[in-house]
Amino acid sequence: MPVAVRSAYDPKNMVFRHLGPTGLKVSIFSLGGWLTYGGTQKGSIVKDCLQAAWDNGINFFDTAEVYANGQCEIEMGQALKELDWPRDEYVISTKVFFGTGRKEPNTRGLSRKHVVEGVKSCLERLQTPYADIVFAHRPDVGTPMKEIVEGFTQVIRNLNLAYYWGTSEWSAVQIAEATAIAERYNLIAPVAEQPQYNAFHRERFEAEYAPLYQQFQYGTTIWSPLASGLLTGKYNDGIPEDSRFATNPGFFNETVKELKTPEGQAKIEKVRKLSTIAERLGGNASQLALAWAAKNENVSSVILGATKVQQIHDNCKALLLLEKLTPEVMEEIEGVLQNKPAKAPTYGRNR
Ligand SMILES: NC(=O)c1ccc[n+]([C@@H]2O[C@H](COP(=O)([O-])OP(=O)(O)OC[C@H]3O[C@@H](n4cnc5c(N)ncnc54)[C@H](OP(=O)(O)O)[C@@H]3O)[C@@H](O)[C@H]2O)c1
Repeated sequence: MPVAVRSAYDPKNMVFRHLGPTGLKVSIFSLGGWLTYGGTQKGSIVKDCLQAAWDNGINFFDTAEVYANGQCEIEMGQALKELDWPRDEYVISTKVFFGTGRKEPNTRGLSRKHVVEGVKSCLERLQTPYADIVFAHRPDVGTPMKEIVEGFTQVIRNLNLAYYWGTSEWSAVQIAEATAIAERYNLIAPVAEQPQYNAFHRERFEAEYAPLYQQFQYGTTIWSPLASGLLTGKYNDGIPEDSRFATNPGFFNETVKELKTPEGQAKIEKVRKLSTIAERLGGNASQLALAWAAKNENVSSVILGATKVQQIHDNCKALLLLEKLTPEVMEEIEGVLQNKPAKAPTYGRNR
């Protein structure tokens, strides 16, 4: 008797994109746990947030060994266990490099030892036999690139602990080097980068990485699409008590100081103007910022962060705005932002 396939997942009106050159399909919006799950949010709220994401058609969840020193993976893993969705219906990514706060020399970095042992520990905390994607959370200039590529190949090919690997905040040159080494030595190449990308942070994503999209169809799962909340408009008139800038002062002291400078005030002025455009289109500033990021075809998935269930429901409505971002509206947004990165010069020699 064939075993009936139990399927809990309803994609709703979610958009899916391939993760770079792979066959893996990820929802255009995903959900991550930096500073939130295992940090300011613990217990049932984590499960509620994951459920809200799932209910909106999100199939992709992101974490890292370093988030709350491993507590994020523990909280998200426990929530996923309790939610008991079929494991083949969702995608998990985690990351190694920063460790979990331990100081011993081999408990961080991208040596083959930490790549393999780090991933094993991530999976234990997540209570899953494999991650779909493992990211190298930063480049490790202290480890030879060939060893790094070998480490991730071992994780995927020999140990079956992951299906794909990627990079996070690596330079384009480092990504190209890792890819060339993989090709040369029959190792597995990285398939996606996890960079910061939002309306105030564009240079690396749009300019530096441009050749990677062309040459390798390199994918991206982008972080801080709301600039940690700045693009929601919640900081326009000060710092609300229960907001990220207030609850994580260690991370955001400098950002809060910057908001008072002319540069910071100019950003807030831009957020106000973006809100006006968003409202005209029938949405809000957060939804416009998220749709704007998703509009870029080189984005495989926009990773959302959320402390509240309502933020997830609200942010997923960005899908409705995505359809309204015509070339004219995109031009209007450019007019507000005034920060489009210049393309690399071609000296008249276009490809
Ligand atoms: N690879 C890396 O180096 C790296 C680095 C950072 C993040 N990431 C990944 O990317 C994910 C997303 O990054 P992020 O959390 O910085 O994203 P973000 O979208 O820029 O910020 C999310 C935060 O903004 C606030 N927010 C979200 N929606 C809102 C709404 N509708 N109204 C008001 N406030 C709202 C919430 O914080 P409050 O409610 O607390 O204000 C939420 O936690 C992370 O979880 C992580 O998985 C990766």
